[in-house]
Amino acid sequence: MSFLTQFEFFATCPRGLEGVLATELYELSVLEVNPAFAVKERTAGGVPFSGTWVAAFMANLYSRIASRILLKVVTQPYCDEHDIYVLAREQPWEQWFDASRTFRIDVTAIKSPLHSIEFTMLRIKDAICDRLRDRIGARPNIDKIAPDIRIKAFITPTDCTLYLDTSGRPLFKRGWRLDKGVAPLRENLAAGIIRLSGWTGSDPLFDPMCGSGTFIAEAAQIALRIAPGLNRNFSFEKFRYYDIAAWQRMKAQALDDSCKAISYAKLSNTLLIYASDISNKMLAKALENLRRASCSSMISLKQCDALDIVAPCDLPGVLVMNPPYSERISVHLRRAPRYWNSSTEFQTSNPSNANNIFFREFGNVLRQQFLGWKVFVFSSDRKLPGQMQLRASTKTPLYNGALKCQLFYFNI
Ligand SMILES: C[S@@+](CC[C@H](N)C(=O)[O-])C[C@H]1O[C@@H](n2cnc3c(N)ncnc32)[C@H](O)[C@@H]1O
Repeated sequence: MSFLTQFEFFATCPRGLEGVLATELYELSVLEVNPAFAVKERTAGGVPFSGTWVAAFMANLYSRIASRILLKVVTQPYCDEHDIYVLAREQPWEQWFDASRTFRIDVTAIKSPLHSIEFTMLRIKDAICDRLRDRIGARPNIDKIAPDIRIKAFITPTDCTLYLDTSGRPLFKRGWRLDKGVAPLRENLAAGIIRLSGWTGSDPLFDPMCGSGTFIAEAAQIALRIAPGLNRNFSFEKFRYYDIAAWQRMKAQALDDSCKAISYAKLSNTLLIYASDISNKMLAKALENLRRASCSSMISLKQCDALDIVAPCDLPGVLVMNPPYSERISVHLRRAPRYWNSSTEFQTSNPSNANNIFFREFGNVLRQQFLGWKVFVFSSDRKLPGQMQLRASTKTPLYNGALKCQLFYFNI
């Protein structure tokens, strides 16, 4: 292996974001003078690409949408667990890590004929320990909580692929979130939604239900060119072999770029990001998260009922939000909406009733106050456009974990 060796990688992402992830990786690949960073056709759940170590560093450090960057070790057909044991034992794991490192194995199988995922996982673990005991005379220990090295097996009905996870903790863990709040969005899902909205950093962006501040923190980091991986570690830093000098140069460059962009934004006052929430408690959490994401002083936060919002600036921009989405967490109604009269039953103790009342009035607020704005609402409730009495121009299916959601776009 040399630092010019080409590897095959797979960037995973939340389902529905494969297209924007492919575009993001393509943009990274053209920044790289080394033409070896090549993005391939996307598949369900992620985007394959190839390149040297530099491609893996760039994807880990700069991708806002990927969940993990996996390095492909091998793909091969199999019939049973024994074949997978042999395949895992043949791989030169000793080149990647030694017995002082802890590791864990995760197995994902789709329609595979294997009897037990758990047993397959144990066979892969045995194969790796046997290989290292043979080659270096010692075996590494398992750590399921905070392993140094993560190995992923992806098993289809016919093939088994083994990957080394170069990221470690998933990439949506940027390091700035302290306080989660109620039902926060994952950072990479929020960044993907912003990307789908077409917002690039110079127009206004407003989240009127900001919760712990995920949309606005991600938006600010985009506008300020803060690399999402700047304040965290990666699993590849524990590998025996990677191009450490190239990695340090890349991190120093990223830090320098963001310092320049932050100074410029502070001087020129050009960051047009606004947020509000009805809850003071949530606003305090958002403020703390923004402070840790290095952008609190440049974002305007306000306590406000979403039924009382007005456009925060003269220019139209993007309004993005994910309202409370279930029977369990419903919108807060502070007062009876304007259209309410004595014949309307006003019962906020019933969550779906509160949601119906809220969204009908909120549709009116958008029509009256946000002319020219592009409004993006992320929700699992398919009835939302009807409740708001607005026609969605597009509906993009996205998954929040296992929950099927839609990103509704309303051109007001
Ligand atoms: C699902 S959470 C938003 C999560 C947020 N995107 C995050 O990542 O943390 C919904 C938010 O809506 C707020 N909310 C509920 N009713 C509201 C209302 N009438 N006006 C403004 N905010 C409201 C809640 O306080 C909560 O923070």
